[in-house]
Amino acid sequence: YMLEGGELLFVAETEGGKVVGFVFGRREEDSAVIGWIAVHPEYQGRGVGGLLLKAVEDEARRAGLKTVITGTPFARSFYEKYGYECYRVERALLLELIGRTVNPPRDMDVRPLLLDDLPALASFMGDEEYLRFLMAYFSVYDSDPDMCLIGFRGKDVAGAVVGKRNEVYPDLVTLEELVVKDESYAYDMLDALTYAVSVKGYRWVGVRLPVRGLDEEELLRSGWKDAKLPSFWTRYHIRKHLR
Ligand SMILES: CC(C)(COP(=O)(O)OP(=O)(O)OC[C@H]1O[C@@H](n2cnc3c(N)ncnc32)[C@H](O)[C@@H]1OP(=O)(O)O)[C@@H](O)C(=O)NCCC(=O)NCCS
Repeated sequence: YMLEGGELLFVAETEGGKVVGFVFGRREEDSAVIGWIAVHPEYQGRGVGGLLLKAVEDEARRAGLKTVITGTPFARSFYEKYGYECYRVERALLLELIGRTVNPPRDMDVRPLLLDDLPALASFMGDEEYLRFLMAYFSVYDSDPDMCLIGFRGKDVAGAVVGKRNEVYPDLVTLEELVVKDESYAYDMLDALTYAVSVKGYRWVGVRLPVRGLDEEELLRSGWKDAKLPSFWTRYHIRKHLR
């Protein structure tokens, strides 16, 4: 039921009064936002989740709300079964490095990024992009200087990349910033980071899209997969318009 302050909570009970599922959410403007829904594993697949969704929808309608929305890494097909649509995907992709031969980029020389290199990078970046890059760089260069890389084509700076160890998942390094002088260098810079991460013995390298110069389909074709780690996942934005 709708709690004070616009919060929403329903539980599902068996006839014997055992709680086997719940849904928790809140009201935001003219939407009900589902924060969390779960059904006891032994009771999954029997329509309990569907009843919980219906309870939210009925309550939202009563309150005059227009939509039910949520974001989920795992349960997209569950929502779609009940008439919800996915209207946006925030894609996180992972490449597993264990058992994979990873090579450094062929046409680029790569080395750790030094403070002295920064002016050369600034020369091809906009102010805002440069500031974002500096923030990423300074947030990791103490702890992981070898995850900050600069690439050269001949004598020319081609781009730079900053990777960061995931705080929750210790076996993952994610790409924080990638800047390139020409978009065609983006994959080489990604390869440079992947190689450095692999040499360090991590299991995964991760990318949150969109990143300028990197194409989702291309990454999926070359072995990257949707991320479903506890702290790093592809988020499906889901909604249903109430009638
Ligand atoms: C997702 C969940 C709430 C669904 O509850 P449920 O009672 O099993 O759902 P229903 O029986 O009403 O619907 C079943 C449908 O949901 C989907 N579904 C069931 N389990 C699922 C799961 N673990 N992941 C994704 N979809 C699932 C299937 O499409 C299934 O349809 P089918 O039976 O025709 O194959 C439940 O599986 C659960 O608690 N999962 C773990 C927690 C979770 O992922 N919560 C959502 C994160 S926001």
